[in-house]
Amino acid sequence: MVEDLRSGLDKNIRLLIVDDEETFRRTIVKRLQKRGISIEEAGSGEECLSILEEKPMDVVVLDVKMPGMNGIEVLRHVKERYPKTEVILLTGHASTQDGVGGIKAGAFDYLSKPIELEHLLGKIKQAHEKRVREEEKRREAEFRAKMEQQMIATERLASLGTLAAGVAHEINNPLAIIKESAGWMKLILNKEEMADIPRKGDFEMALGKIEKGVERAKRITHQLLGSVKQTDSVCSEVNLEELLGETADLIHKEAGNKNIEISHQIDPAVGSIWTDPYKLRQVLINLLTNAVHATGSGGRITIMIEPVDERVAFIVRDTGQGIPKENLNKIFEPFFSTKPPGEGTGLGLFVTRSIVEKLGGKIEVESQLGKGTIFRVQLPRYQKIDEKPAQNDHVDNLKRVFEIN
Ligand SMILES: Nc1ncnc2c1ncn2[C@@H]1O[C@H](COP(=O)(O)OP(=O)(O)OP(=O)(O)O)[C@@H](O)[C@H]1O
Ligand SMILES: [Mg+2]
Repeated sequence: MVEDLRSGLDKNIRLLIVDDEETFRRTIVKRLQKRGISIEEAGSGEECLSILEEKPMDVVVLDVKMPGMNGIEVLRHVKERYPKTEVILLTGHASTQDGVGGIKAGAFDYLSKPIELEHLLGKIKQAHEKRVREEEKRREAEFRAKMEQQMIATERLASLGTLAAGVAHEINNPLAIIKESAGWMKLILNKEEMADIPRKGDFEMALGKIEKGVERAKRITHQLLGSVKQTDSVCSEVNLEELLGETADLIHKEAGNKNIEISHQIDPAVGSIWTDPYKLRQVLINLLTNAVHATGSGGRITIMIEPVDERVAFIVRDTGQGIPKENLNKIFEPFFSTKPPGEGTGLGLFVTRSIVEKLGGKIEVESQLGKGTIFRVQLPRYQKIDEKPAQNDHVDNLKRVFEIN
């Protein structure tokens, strides 16, 4: 901010003077210009309003006594249309009445003519400071409201995750029963005495569908449980080469079928990392599976492990289809998937983020449509062993998710 040294006025201030007396107006404009402060001018209330329509102003210095629309009328219009603009009224000598009425109508202050330039500048400065303060307050309130909204959303998601995991756990038992019974029925169907029963093919098809459905439901419950279970967290020093090798092996076949090249680099400066290898493996598998699904034939997937201060970064980069901007903040939500129905659970990244956060880290994504995507996971080099026990109060969570008091 550059200031006029004598008045302390910000030289970037947007100022307008409205007065029908041309000589007076011109004098003010020239004297301000000499000090490097620019000011727009209008000879009537109507002109003032049309200038404001084009250019927003911080402070308007407004003569009250003008032919046509008088200053008080102009002031009312200005405050109604541009409430943030501050107005200083110039009243005739001994017209205190006008000034007081003006303040009631929203003017910042009034000065009686003839005016002293320094006095006017002082008032403009105060009016501008008020405007800046109010703008800051408004921004702060906006920021606070946004943060609160985000916190509510995050809490909801966390509760939803815990709740979903509770439900997933309960569903596992009936799922096992369905799976076992379907297997048993299949066995019976394959027995000799059943060889000629009517519509045997239909039964077999229905059983096949049941088994597929159970598999899918199990995948969902498995993911959800993995995201929330904390009690089985076992930390150890992780052999990164081994971990990457194992993980790459798991997706090697799928990547090979699509002719995707997978490479990895571990910066030797990474040294040792102490965390839960099973959870870290699940994170990498989820990211790599997504990368393989998003990448077309001939594409490349690179995994890099690098040191970042006291943390370690795991970077999974692909040359795939990329993620549209509007989806970037949805991909970590539970059940968000762009895969065809029945193919993606939409839980992979939700679970991945829950795990990363539980391990004390963070996950970020960067993507360019049509060019590729980079997921960056940062984990602390040493995971604290004394993790909190899993929260199991599902009734409480239910209440929070559905806002029941
Ligand atoms: N590397 C990536 N490139 C492009 N899009 C991605 C990538 N990773 C994730 N996405 C997008 O994010 C969505 C959510 O991913 P997430 O792993 O949570 O679920 P999913 O992959 O659809 O289902 P599942 O993990 O059960 O297979 C995906 O459907 C996809 O649209
Ligand atoms: Mg996935």
